[in-house]
Amino acid sequence: MKVPDIIIAVDGYSSTGKSTFAKLIAKEFDFLYLDSGALYRGVTLFARERKLISADNVIDPALEGALASLDLHFGKEGTFMGERCIEKDIRTLEVSSQVSPIAAVPYVRAFVDAKLREFGEKGRIVMDGRDIGTTVFPDAQVKVFMTASEQVRAQRRYDEMVAKGETPAFEDVLANLRERDYIDSHRETSPLRRAADAFELDNSDMSLTEEIAWIRGLIQGKFGIL
Ligand code: DC
Repeated sequence: MKVPDIIIAVDGYSSTGKSTFAKLIAKEFDFLYLDSGALYRGVTLFARERKLISADNVIDPALEGALASLDLHFGKEGTFMGERCIEKDIRTLEVSSQVSPIAAVPYVRAFVDAKLREFGEKGRIVMDGRDIGTTVFPDAQVKVFMTASEQVRAQRRYDEMVAKGETPAFEDVLANLRERDYIDSHRETSPLRRAADAFELDNSDMSLTEEIAWIRGLIQGKFGIL
């Protein structure tokens, strides 16, 4: 199936399987996959290491100026801060628990948006996040809004952490998920919401094969291709 050079935006709550789905789309259609959340995580790691965010999430206004020296980009092995691969460091529970307040700061969002638009300039990309179809690429030709039940999402996140050797309590994982959902959908700048022209995909009871069949069908219908 020859898909035109479009932008596919995949938004939704955390742990709905956005990145798994977006990576599969990239493989299926030979697109470039870009993970916007990784940049918010990169800014969070940077703020933590520079001591510009306190344990109770008070953000030092000096972060704004400091961002000028922050070089975040994607390489073969994932996300980079300058020469350093930070792919592992940005996935810790510490970063996960501080990323939503960081992502709520307007100048942080402006910083990340500018990078995402630059990376996405050439099209043929699939980008996942919270506001790709509403703010970053409002003209994206295909927009997907992913949902799944809270229990299913918490279980997925829990399984992921256990697979990495962590020993979280299920209740804590669920609480962290609820807190992030709340902050992400209630912040003032670019809150998480479904774009009017996004197609909703509830994958609570779907296999990955079914998800791919769904997006193929959607693209075939939209562009009249086989
Ligand atoms: O998808 P993720 O869990 O890696 O995202 C990390 C955080 O970044 C999440 O709490 C919300 C925020 N985020 C955002 O506000 N806008 C995006 N486009 C992507 C992520």
